[in-house]
Amino acid sequence: MNRKNQNKRREFLNNVCPTVALAFMGVTMLEACSSGGDDSDIGGGSNNGGGGNNSGGSNTGYTKNGNDITINLNHSNFSNLHSNGWFNLFQEKILLLKVSSTSYRAFTGSCPHQGTHTAWSYNGSSGEFVCGQHGNSYKTDCSTSGVGGVLKCYTTTLSGSSLKVTKS
Ligand code: FES
Repeated sequence: MNRKNQNKRREFLNNVCPTVALAFMGVTMLEACSSGGDDSDIGGGSNNGGGGNNSGGSNTGYTKNGNDITINLNHSNFSNLHSNGWFNLFQEKILLLKVSSTSYRAFTGSCPHQGTHTAWSYNGSSGEFVCGQHGNSYKTDCSTSGVGGVLKCYTTTLSGSSLKVTKS
């Protein structure tokens, strides 16, 4: 291998995710590549998601206008909100809780402890969101403090099947 190719190979190995690099060397690992420290999708299964498009376009089931996120509750991307009673719209760092068919709550998706936003699960018996990053639990009453503070509530406005969440 000449020097130019060696440099290219070194550059490639420096820039590529370690998992991919190991795969090239014949080592397989069951781990996803990630550039950040807090965005692993753990603890919430398929409920930590909201479609594949981060832009908030119509194919995601929600639109953005400034601080307002307007969700089409009938969109298939939000079916887990109805079946499980909660949903992590992690692209917008919003946690949604279905209190009843006419009542929804929205919270910041950033954990009050250290800001992880993709590790949420919901404990229906205690009525708490649980952050899988370090296992802390947070009440959904908008006032009870957990480790690092209160899980902040956002204002919601329901109009038919349209739920507007105003981030503040
Ligand atoms: S970041 Fe959520 S419990 Fe630590």
